[in-house]
Amino acid sequence: MVFFSMFCCAKGSNGKGKEKPTWRTFSLKELHSATNNFNYDNKLGEGGFGSVYWGQLWDGSQIAVKRLKVWSDKAEMQFGVEVEILARVRHKNLLSLRGYCAEGQERLIVYDYMPNLSLLSHLHGQHSAECLLDWDRRMNIAIGSAEGIVYLHNQATPHVIHRDIKASNVLLDSDFQARVADFGFAKFIPDGATHVTTRVKGTLGYLAPEYAMLGKASEGCDVYSFGILLLELVSGKRPVEKISSTAKRTVVQWALPLTCDGKFNEIADPRLNGKFVEEELKRVVLVALVCAQTRPEKRPTIMEVVELLKGNLKEKLIAIENDEMFRTLYAPVTQSQSGDHDNSSHISEENEIEEVQQHK
Ligand SMILES: Nc1ncnc2c1ncn2[C@@H]1O[C@H](COP(=O)(O)OP(=O)(O)OP(=O)(O)O)[C@@H](O)[C@H]1O
Ligand SMILES: [Mg+2]
Repeated sequence: MVFFSMFCCAKGSNGKGKEKPTWRTFSLKELHSATNNFNYDNKLGEGGFGSVYWGQLWDGSQIAVKRLKVWSDKAEMQFGVEVEILARVRHKNLLSLRGYCAEGQERLIVYDYMPNLSLLSHLHGQHSAECLLDWDRRMNIAIGSAEGIVYLHNQATPHVIHRDIKASNVLLDSDFQARVADFGFAKFIPDGATHVTTRVKGTLGYLAPEYAMLGKASEGCDVYSFGILLLELVSGKRPVEKISSTAKRTVVQWALPLTCDGKFNEIADPRLNGKFVEEELKRVVLVALVCAQTRPEKRPTIMEVVELLKGNLKEKLIAIENDEMFRTLYAPVTQSQSGDHDNSSHISEENEIEEVQQHK
């Protein structure tokens, strides 16, 4: 029983002396009653490993319940990993665990409900027409989610690689503060190791090429995905767009030539109506593009990303601005184009991902 051995370990790390546990177990009956028997109307969405339902407990507090859909050894492992990691991590920009339920074949994870749902819902989903994300909120979300990842990479013990940074995994609380969610894909990095080789998991459009092709997961992969997320956040574009019946374009391929030409204003989400701080926009775009570059050794650390986004590390920002990647002349994008940010790596990513999703 993978889950229970992991759980014991998590409980040990949680239950220091008389400290009050921050999470508890829930009965299936309690969760049935909180979610109106997992009613379809309560469903917040569905991911690779199950559905998420809104619920309300007897004390009036609102919860989100993730119900794993298929029972398998893989799901057991997923559940164990997520519960153990979530039980350990506490940070203002990470979604906290409220508890779990393991009864019979059912495995459920209980979180705080995030009333402003996910970044995805504001950029491309049910809230996208409401334009609730003004520039200040976007900057806050960028910095806050980066700080959450800094905690995972540098402060959690042992360090954690998230491996699935994307817009649906950045949730927004009642003040639109970012909470990075979903540590189910996370993997502990042993001390001293530079990367762990693993089967590729993740989401189309966000995967670092070295991870998609060689299975090398490192902090740099999260930085790459975060770069894509930043571009999505400022532009309102999806990570990959269909530009014709045969061709696709990544958000990097779209934004890089505009950046080389200094046309930052054209990158800004039209829903901002021109209301943004130009200097900040430029900073975010430059940082996003250095994060999402093919060569992992050239990417900044997430700690540097936080400082850069805050407007610190001015010299580093100037060096980034003068980087050769922003001086390359770009031909119009076609599917066969090659280069540092070429399509070929992304096409490989897509192939990998399609394969992975079939395994889900
Ligand atoms: N605590 C929460 N509060 C509000 N909405 C949530 C909460 N947890 C998850 N959601 C939303 O529920 C939906 C399903 O989440 P889930 O994590 O299962 O899938 P996903 O993020 O789309 O994909 P993946 O399985 O790859 O993580 C998402 O839209 C997510 O933003
Ligand atoms: Mg998720």
